[in-house]
Amino acid sequence: MLVHAINNAAYEFASDVRVGLTRSGQKELPSKYLYDDVGSALFEVISHLPEYGLTRADERLLQSHADEIVERLDAPVAVAELGSGSGKKTRWILEALGRWQRTFYYPVEISRSALAMCERELSDIDSLSIVGFEREYLDGLLEVAAHRQRNQHLFVMFLGSTIGNFDRAAGVKFLAEIRHILQPGDSLLLGTDLEKPAEQLLKAYNDEIGVTAAFNLNLLARINRELDGNFDLRQFEHTSKINREARSVEMHLVSKRRQIVRIPASDLRIEFQEGETIWTESSHKYQPEEVFQMAKNAGFSCEAQWIDEQWPFAENLLIAE
Ligand code: AVI
Repeated sequence: MLVHAINNAAYEFASDVRVGLTRSGQKELPSKYLYDDVGSALFEVISHLPEYGLTRADERLLQSHADEIVERLDAPVAVAELGSGSGKKTRWILEALGRWQRTFYYPVEISRSALAMCERELSDIDSLSIVGFEREYLDGLLEVAAHRQRNQHLFVMFLGSTIGNFDRAAGVKFLAEIRHILQPGDSLLLGTDLEKPAEQLLKAYNDEIGVTAAFNLNLLARINRELDGNFDLRQFEHTSKINREARSVEMHLVSKRRQIVRIPASDLRIEFQEGETIWTESSHKYQPEEVFQMAKNAGFSCEAQWIDEQWPFAENLLIAE
Protein backbone atom coordinates (compact mmCIF):
# COMPACT_ATOMS: atom_id res chain seq x y z
CA MET A 1 0.00 0.00 0.00
CA LEU A 2 1.23 3.51 -0.85
CA VAL A 3 1.26 5.70 2.25
CA HIS A 4 0.86 9.44 1.60
CA ALA A 5 2.29 11.61 4.33
CA ILE A 6 0.12 14.70 4.08
CA ASN A 7 -0.15 17.83 6.18
CA ASN A 8 -3.34 19.69 7.09
CA ALA A 9 -3.51 21.92 4.02
CA ALA A 10 -2.90 18.95 1.72
CA TYR A 11 -5.53 16.95 3.59
CA GLU A 12 -8.08 19.73 3.09
CA PHE A 13 -7.18 20.00 -0.60
CA ALA A 14 -7.51 16.23 -1.04
CA SER A 15 -10.84 16.21 0.72
CA ASP A 16 -12.25 19.24 -1.20
CA VAL A 17 -11.21 17.60 -4.48
CA ARG A 18 -12.99 14.42 -3.43
CA VAL A 19 -16.19 16.25 -2.49
CA GLY A 20 -16.17 18.38 -5.67
CA LEU A 21 -15.50 15.55 -8.11
CA THR A 22 -17.94 13.07 -6.58
CA ARG A 23 -20.84 15.53 -6.46
CA SER A 24 -23.86 14.19 -8.35
CA GLY A 25 -24.51 16.24 -11.48
CA GLN A 26 -22.02 19.03 -12.16
CA LYS A 27 -18.45 18.23 -11.05
CA GLU A 28 -16.76 21.18 -9.32
CA LEU A 29 -13.43 22.31 -7.89
CA PRO A 30 -13.16 25.32 -5.54
CA SER A 31 -11.59 28.31 -7.29
CA LYS A 32 -9.29 29.11 -4.37
CA TYR A 33 -7.10 26.17 -5.45
CA LEU A 34 -6.29 27.95 -8.73
CA TYR A 35 -3.76 30.02 -6.77
CA ASP A 36 -0.67 27.95 -6.06
CA ASP A 37 2.64 29.56 -7.06
CA VAL A 38 2.16 28.72 -10.75
CA GLY A 39 -1.49 29.85 -10.73
CA SER A 40 -0.65 33.13 -8.98
CA ALA A 41 2.07 33.86 -11.53
CA LEU A 42 -0.36 33.08 -14.39
CA PHE A 43 -3.01 35.34 -12.86
CA GLU A 44 -0.43 38.13 -12.75
CA VAL A 45 0.04 37.64 -16.53
CA ILE A 46 -3.75 37.60 -17.09
CA SER A 47 -3.91 41.04 -15.48
CA HIS A 48 -1.73 42.38 -18.35
CA LEU A 49 -3.77 40.83 -21.19
CA PRO A 50 -5.55 43.22 -23.57
CA GLU A 51 -8.78 41.18 -23.25
CA TYR A 52 -8.82 41.39 -19.43
CA GLY A 53 -9.32 45.03 -18.49
CA LEU A 54 -10.44 44.43 -14.91
CA THR A 55 -7.11 44.90 -13.11
CA ARG A 56 -6.15 47.97 -15.12
CA ALA A 57 -9.56 49.56 -14.35
CA ASP A 58 -9.03 48.84 -10.65
CA GLU A 59 -5.56 50.41 -10.84
CA ARG A 60 -6.76 53.49 -12.75
CA LEU A 61 -9.45 54.17 -10.16
CA LEU A 62 -7.04 53.77 -7.26
CA GLN A 63 -4.46 55.98 -8.93
CA SER A 64 -6.95 58.75 -9.76
CA HIS A 65 -8.87 58.74 -6.49
CA ALA A 66 -6.35 57.69 -3.85
CA ASP A 67 -6.24 61.11 -2.15
CA GLU A 68 -10.02 61.40 -2.12
CA ILE A 69 -10.40 57.88 -0.68
CA VAL A 70 -7.82 58.48 2.03
CA GLU A 71 -9.35 61.84 2.99
CA ARG A 72 -12.64 60.08 3.70
CA LEU A 73 -11.08 57.73 6.28
CA ASP A 74 -11.11 58.31 10.02
CA ALA A 75 -7.37 58.57 10.77
CA PRO A 76 -5.18 57.04 12.01
CA VAL A 77 -5.77 53.76 10.17
CA ALA A 78 -4.03 50.43 9.93
CA VAL A 79 -4.50 48.85 6.50
CA ALA A 80 -5.37 45.20 5.86
CA GLU A 81 -5.61 43.86 2.33
CA LEU A 82 -7.40 40.59 1.63
CA GLY A 83 -5.70 38.91 -1.34
CA SER A 84 -3.00 41.50 -1.97
CA GLY A 85 -1.61 39.77 -5.07
CA SER A 86 1.52 41.58 -6.27
CA GLY A 87 0.54 44.70 -4.27
CA LYS A 88 1.05 46.92 -7.34
CA LYS A 89 -2.30 48.68 -7.24
CA THR A 90 -2.19 49.20 -3.47
CA ARG A 91 0.81 51.50 -3.85
CA TRP A 92 -1.38 54.54 -4.67
CA ILE A 93 -3.38 54.21 -1.47
CA LEU A 94 -0.35 53.55 0.72
CA GLU A 95 1.52 56.52 -0.75
CA ALA A 96 -1.50 58.79 -0.23
CA LEU A 97 -1.80 57.60 3.38
CA GLY A 98 1.93 58.12 3.87
CA ARG A 99 1.42 61.85 3.34
CA TRP A 100 -0.67 61.88 6.54
CA GLN A 101 0.62 59.16 8.84
CA ARG A 102 3.06 56.34 9.44
CA THR A 103 1.18 53.24 8.24
CA PHE A 104 1.06 49.58 9.19
CA TYR A 105 0.07 47.49 6.17
CA TYR A 106 -1.06 43.88 6.64
CA PRO A 107 -1.43 41.92 3.38
CA VAL A 108 -3.35 38.66 3.83
CA GLU A 109 -2.67 36.02 1.17
CA ILE A 110 -2.95 32.26 0.76
CA SER A 111 -0.11 32.32 -1.76
CA ARG A 112 3.35 32.63 -0.19
CA SER A 113 4.94 33.71 -3.47
CA ALA A 114 2.33 36.47 -4.00
CA LEU A 115 2.98 37.69 -0.45
CA ALA A 116 6.72 37.80 -1.09
CA MET A 117 6.13 39.65 -4.40
CA CYS A 118 3.92 42.18 -2.60
CA GLU A 119 6.49 42.80 0.14
CA ARG A 120 9.19 43.39 -2.49
CA GLU A 121 6.99 45.66 -4.61
CA LEU A 122 6.08 48.00 -1.75
CA SER A 123 9.28 47.94 0.30
CA ASP A 124 10.47 51.34 -1.02
CA ILE A 125 7.50 53.33 0.35
CA ASP A 126 8.56 55.66 3.14
CA SER A 127 6.85 55.51 6.52
CA LEU A 128 5.37 52.06 5.80
CA SER A 129 5.72 48.88 7.89
CA ILE A 130 4.60 45.68 6.16
CA VAL A 131 3.60 42.59 8.10
CA GLY A 132 2.26 39.82 5.85
CA PHE A 133 -0.07 37.01 6.93
CA GLU A 134 -0.07 33.77 4.94
CA ARG A 135 -3.65 32.90 5.84
CA GLU A 136 -7.19 32.52 4.56
CA TYR A 137 -8.85 35.97 4.42
CA LEU A 138 -10.95 35.92 7.59
CA ASP A 139 -8.32 34.15 9.72
CA GLY A 140 -5.79 36.78 8.61
CA LEU A 141 -8.18 39.65 9.30
CA LEU A 142 -8.89 38.32 12.80
CA GLU A 143 -5.15 38.42 13.50
CA VAL A 144 -4.86 41.94 12.12
CA ALA A 145 -7.76 43.05 14.33
CA ALA A 146 -6.01 41.51 17.34
CA HIS A 147 -2.97 43.72 16.58
CA ARG A 148 -5.01 46.93 16.29
CA GLN A 149 -4.05 49.76 18.65
CA ARG A 150 -6.75 51.41 20.69
CA ASN A 151 -7.01 54.70 18.79
CA GLN A 152 -6.69 53.06 15.37
CA HIS A 153 -9.36 52.42 12.78
CA LEU A 154 -9.01 49.49 10.41
CA PHE A 155 -9.15 50.12 6.68
CA VAL A 156 -9.68 46.85 4.82
CA MET A 157 -9.13 46.55 1.07
CA PHE A 158 -10.79 43.80 -0.93
CA LEU A 159 -9.95 44.76 -4.49
CA GLY A 160 -9.94 43.24 -7.97
CA SER A 161 -13.57 42.04 -7.69
CA THR A 162 -12.53 38.91 -5.81
CA ILE A 163 -15.97 39.25 -4.17
CA GLY A 164 -17.32 38.18 -7.59
CA ASN A 165 -15.80 34.73 -7.14
CA PHE A 166 -18.41 34.08 -4.42
CA ASP A 167 -22.03 33.57 -5.45
CA ARG A 168 -24.19 36.59 -4.59
CA ALA A 169 -25.53 35.28 -1.28
CA ALA A 170 -22.12 34.02 -0.17
CA GLY A 171 -20.62 37.38 -1.15
CA VAL A 172 -22.94 39.26 1.21
CA LYS A 173 -22.31 36.67 3.93
CA PHE A 174 -18.57 37.18 3.50
CA LEU A 175 -18.99 40.97 3.76
CA ALA A 176 -21.04 40.44 6.95
CA GLU A 177 -18.26 38.26 8.35
CA ILE A 178 -15.76 41.04 7.67
CA ARG A 179 -18.16 43.48 9.34
CA HIS A 180 -18.26 41.30 12.49
CA ILE A 181 -14.50 41.60 12.86
CA LEU A 182 -14.61 45.40 12.42
CA GLN A 183 -15.79 48.20 14.68
CA PRO A 184 -18.18 51.04 13.77
CA GLY A 185 -16.33 53.65 11.73
CA ASP A 186 -13.87 51.13 10.27
CA SER A 187 -13.96 50.98 6.49
CA LEU A 188 -13.79 48.58 3.57
CA LEU A 189 -12.75 49.47 0.02
CA LEU A 190 -14.49 46.97 -2.21
CA GLY A 191 -13.75 46.49 -5.93
CA THR A 192 -16.63 45.16 -8.05
CA ASP A 193 -16.54 44.36 -11.75
CA LEU A 194 -19.69 45.63 -13.48
CA GLU A 195 -21.93 43.96 -16.05
CA LYS A 196 -20.75 44.16 -19.65
CA PRO A 197 -21.57 42.52 -23.00
CA ALA A 198 -21.31 38.73 -23.17
CA GLU A 199 -18.75 38.70 -26.04
CA GLN A 200 -16.42 40.96 -24.08
CA LEU A 201 -16.65 38.71 -21.02
CA LEU A 202 -16.16 35.51 -22.99
CA LYS A 203 -12.94 36.91 -24.47
CA ALA A 204 -11.74 38.23 -21.12
CA TYR A 205 -12.03 34.72 -19.66
CA ASN A 206 -10.74 32.87 -22.73
CA ASP A 207 -7.93 34.96 -24.17
CA GLU A 208 -6.37 34.41 -27.57
CA ILE A 209 -2.91 33.31 -26.43
CA GLY A 210 -4.22 30.81 -23.90
CA VAL A 211 -3.00 32.24 -20.59
CA THR A 212 -6.42 31.82 -18.94
CA ALA A 213 -6.57 28.29 -20.32
CA ALA A 214 -3.18 27.55 -18.71
CA PHE A 215 -4.38 29.17 -15.45
CA ASN A 216 -7.42 26.88 -15.42
CA LEU A 217 -5.60 23.69 -16.53
CA ASN A 218 -2.96 24.30 -13.87
CA LEU A 219 -5.57 23.23 -11.34
CA LEU A 220 -5.46 19.70 -12.77
CA ALA A 221 -1.66 19.87 -12.95
CA ARG A 222 -1.67 20.91 -9.29
CA ILE A 223 -3.79 17.86 -8.40
CA ASN A 224 -1.24 15.72 -10.26
CA ARG A 225 1.69 17.39 -8.45
CA GLU A 226 0.27 17.51 -4.95
CA LEU A 227 -2.22 14.64 -4.80
CA ASP A 228 -0.45 12.24 -7.13
CA GLY A 229 -3.30 12.40 -9.66
CA ASN A 230 -2.97 11.20 -13.23
CA PHE A 231 -5.00 13.78 -15.20
CA ASP A 232 -3.84 13.84 -18.83
CA LEU A 233 -3.94 17.60 -19.37
CA ARG A 234 -4.14 17.22 -23.16
CA GLN A 235 -7.48 15.47 -22.72
CA PHE A 236 -9.11 18.51 -21.09
CA GLU A 237 -9.91 21.88 -22.62
CA HIS A 238 -10.59 25.26 -21.02
CA THR A 239 -13.83 27.06 -21.82
CA SER A 240 -15.69 30.11 -20.54
CA LYS A 241 -19.46 30.53 -20.58
CA ILE A 242 -22.06 33.04 -19.53
CA ASN A 243 -24.59 32.22 -16.83
CA ARG A 244 -27.33 34.78 -17.51
CA GLU A 245 -29.41 33.92 -14.48
CA ALA A 246 -26.48 34.26 -12.06
CA ARG A 247 -25.08 37.22 -14.05
CA SER A 248 -21.68 35.58 -14.04
CA VAL A 249 -19.04 34.21 -16.38
CA GLU A 250 -17.93 30.66 -15.58
CA MET A 251 -14.72 28.78 -16.29
CA HIS A 252 -14.96 25.06 -16.99
CA LEU A 253 -12.60 22.27 -18.02
CA VAL A 254 -14.17 20.04 -20.66
CA SER A 255 -13.24 16.37 -20.95
CA LYS A 256 -12.38 15.72 -24.62
CA ARG A 257 -13.28 12.03 -24.41
CA ARG A 258 -14.56 9.38 -22.06
CA GLN A 259 -11.75 8.75 -19.57
CA ILE A 260 -10.90 7.56 -16.08
CA VAL A 261 -8.67 9.55 -13.72
CA ARG A 262 -7.12 8.35 -10.48
CA ILE A 263 -6.26 10.62 -7.52
CA PRO A 264 -4.76 8.39 -4.82
CA ALA A 265 -4.49 11.07 -2.09
CA SER A 266 -8.25 11.71 -2.44
CA ASP A 267 -8.93 7.98 -2.66
CA LEU A 268 -10.62 8.57 -6.02
CA ARG A 269 -11.15 6.78 -9.29
CA ILE A 270 -13.35 9.03 -11.32
CA GLU A 271 -15.00 8.65 -14.68
CA PHE A 272 -15.55 11.50 -17.14
CA GLN A 273 -17.87 11.32 -20.15
CA GLU A 274 -16.91 13.03 -23.40
CA GLY A 275 -18.01 16.69 -23.12
CA GLU A 276 -18.53 16.51 -19.34
CA THR A 277 -17.11 19.54 -17.51
CA ILE A 278 -15.51 20.47 -14.21
CA TRP A 279 -16.71 23.91 -13.08
CA THR A 280 -13.73 25.71 -11.61
CA GLU A 281 -14.75 29.36 -11.15
CA SER A 282 -17.58 31.86 -11.37
CA SER A 283 -17.02 35.56 -11.70
CA HIS A 284 -20.16 37.53 -10.86
CA LYS A 285 -20.75 40.92 -12.38
CA TYR A 286 -22.69 43.73 -10.70
CA GLN A 287 -24.86 46.75 -11.34
CA PRO A 288 -23.53 49.86 -9.59
CA GLU A 289 -26.72 50.33 -7.48
CA GLU A 290 -26.80 46.78 -6.16
CA VAL A 291 -23.53 47.33 -4.27
CA PHE A 292 -25.33 49.85 -1.99
CA GLN A 293 -27.89 47.18 -1.04
CA MET A 294 -25.23 44.48 -0.60
CA ALA A 295 -23.34 46.83 1.75
CA LYS A 296 -26.49 47.57 3.74
CA ASN A 297 -27.37 43.86 4.06
CA ALA A 298 -23.90 43.22 5.49
CA GLY A 299 -23.97 46.03 8.10
CA PHE A 300 -22.10 48.72 6.14
CA SER A 301 -23.16 51.87 4.35
CA CYS A 302 -21.69 52.57 0.94
CA GLU A 303 -20.45 56.17 1.29
CA ALA A 304 -18.86 56.64 -2.11
CA GLN A 305 -18.50 54.89 -5.45
CA TRP A 306 -16.10 55.57 -8.33
CA ILE A 307 -16.64 54.01 -11.78
CA ASP A 308 -14.04 53.56 -14.51
CA GLU A 309 -15.03 54.89 -17.91
CA GLN A 310 -12.98 52.53 -20.08
CA TRP A 311 -13.87 49.20 -18.41
CA PRO A 312 -17.03 49.24 -16.28
CA PHE A 313 -15.70 48.59 -12.79
CA ALA A 314 -16.56 50.23 -9.46
CA GLU A 315 -14.51 51.03 -6.40
CA ASN A 316 -16.85 51.31 -3.40
CA LEU A 317 -16.06 52.80 0.01
CA LEU A 318 -18.08 51.03 2.71
CA ILE A 319 -18.21 52.27 6.31
CA ALA A 320 -19.06 49.87 9.16
CA GLU A 321 -22.27 51.04 10.92
C1 AVI B 1 -9.39 36.98 -8.97
N1 AVI B 1 -10.62 37.09 -9.75
C2 AVI B 1 -11.32 38.33 -9.43
C3 AVI B 1 -10.44 36.91 -11.20
C4 AVI B 1 -11.79 37.08 -11.91
O1 AVI B 1 -11.85 37.88 -12.85
O2 AVI B 1 -12.78 36.48 -11.51
C5 AVI B 1 -9.88 35.53 -11.50
C6 AVI B 1 -9.78 35.22 -12.96
N2 AVI B 1 -10.20 34.14 -13.51
C7 AVI B 1 -9.95 34.17 -14.80
N3 AVI B 1 -9.41 35.31 -15.10
C8 AVI B 1 -9.28 35.99 -13.96
